[in-house]
Amino acid sequence: MSQSVAAYEKLLADPDVAFAVDLATRAGALLADRPESLTVETKTTDTDVVTHMDQLAESLIVSAIELGRPKDGLLGEEGADKPSESGRRWVIDPIDGTVNYLYQLPHWCVSIALVEEETDQGLVGVVTAPSLNTMFVAARNSGSYRVTGSTVQQLKVSSQRDLSQSLVGTGFGYASARRAHQAQVLTGMLPNVRDIRRLGSCALDLCLVASGELDAYYERGVKPWDHAAGSLIVQEAGGQVSGLNETKPSESMIVAANPILLPQVLEILVAQKADQGA
Ligand code: IPD
Repeated sequence: MSQSVAAYEKLLADPDVAFAVDLATRAGALLADRPESLTVETKTTDTDVVTHMDQLAESLIVSAIELGRPKDGLLGEEGADKPSESGRRWVIDPIDGTVNYLYQLPHWCVSIALVEEETDQGLVGVVTAPSLNTMFVAARNSGSYRVTGSTVQQLKVSSQRDLSQSLVGTGFGYASARRAHQAQVLTGMLPNVRDIRRLGSCALDLCLVASGELDAYYERGVKPWDHAAGSLIVQEAGGQVSGLNETKPSESMIVAANPILLPQVLEILVAQKADQGA
């Protein structure tokens, strides 16, 4: 048995990790069986969509948590919101990358995190992408892993030290004014990096920073359910996740990279006033 498989099996012996992996697997299977026609509604803007599959997946996850972890709190993209009696909270995005899901592009995932309320730090993070046949799993102080079929790989962020040679992921919000500002910030970033990727799922972008397939990621406007699991997966792979002028990521800005690149990304974002404006 390889070292990674043995370490991952040890991780799965933690009941919270096993519980989260099982939940993500069940929700992922439900979503992978995508009906040809989806019921689509809009949320904050006409381009911010939710399908009935997002709602079905969230209710599957929420019912299982209420049954299995009744004292834990809940926060979900599609409305789950329950105070915690245990000091722990599950933060759920039933589909991160909903627009990809709608268009049948493979970059969508289920993101489930268990967070310690006092510190707001992740305890467990699971991101599963059924169309990519891949699951990312991390637990605090236990490392980050990618599971593809029977292959398990322990993750490590890229060792790139030079922003001009870096592949940087980002994303855009759903409101027009926010996008106009994000486009302006991009004009300051693009000439300074190898290239930019916009893959359409914050959670997967973070997992790709953890695996070294992206060197860095930044975005303004993402919510806790988009980044809670992915942030732990980055940290456990040796990366850092921060805000712009604060140590913690927030809706104002999230930046993730290895510790050498992170300040270089921050410097450009500060110069572009990326956390100001819309
Ligand atoms: C979105 C994705 C996207 C990011 C948006 C998020 P959703 O989440 O993570 O990559 O750019 O800011 O809102 O709506 O697909 O759950």
